[in-house]
Amino acid sequence: MFHLTTERPDDAAAIEALLDKAFGPDRHSKISYRYRNAAPPVRGLSRVARADADGRLLGTIRYWPIEAGGADALLLGPIAVEPSLKGRGIGVALMRDTLDAAAWMGHSRIVLVGDIGYYARFGFAPAAPLGLIMPGEKPERLLACALAKDAFAGVSGVLAPRRSVRGGGLIAA
Ligand SMILES: CC(C)(COP(=O)(O)OP(=O)(O)OC[C@H]1O[C@@H](n2cnc3c(N)ncnc32)[C@H](O)[C@@H]1OP(=O)(O)O)[C@@H](O)C(=O)NCCC(=O)NCCS
Repeated sequence: MFHLTTERPDDAAAIEALLDKAFGPDRHSKISYRYRNAAPPVRGLSRVARADADGRLLGTIRYWPIEAGGADALLLGPIAVEPSLKGRGIGVALMRDTLDAAAWMGHSRIVLVGDIGYYARFGFAPAAPLGLIMPGEKPERLLACALAKDAFAGVSGVLAPRRSVRGGGLIAA
């Protein structure tokens, strides 16, 4: 029914339309957009779901380079699925596929803003107990996932935007 590919530049308009549908046109005022405005999404990890039948865009997930307490990390999101096709496994596929790729690329720290009820299944847990802070965001919605053992050990403090990916990730132009 669907397959995943990396996001291409010509997906941009369809992604914006899907995000408007999923989150509303005022989504740009969310705190997390401060981080997303600083850099382009991480190439190779920002992926889309397409309909097998006609290639139509059904889902999107993006990652952004950030700093967590001075260490490299990635901010995951937004993730969104075509509303009429929710609950068919597209979201889970986008999450698992990209988290696996992130680990393979050498990234070890992922954070996001979202519902623990959805993201716990992928290994996310509240970030506040680690001492991570996204100023202006509700602390209970900030979640973290370590892709390597002890990835957050000694890493705490304020999340800050970063202009490009360091370490194992590919650098978006
Ligand atoms: C959240 C979203 C990406 C999930 O994608 P999806 O393709 O519908 O989800 P899947 O089919 O892969 O998984 C469905 C499962 O997720 C659960 N789920 C979906 N949203 C949830 C939420 N906010 N909290 C808890 N569980 C949630 C469903 O209950 C279902 O659980 P089950 O597998 O135990 O039955 C999608 O619903 C969406 O685009 N929502 C609007 C945008 C959004 O809220 N994005 C996330 C920002 S935090």
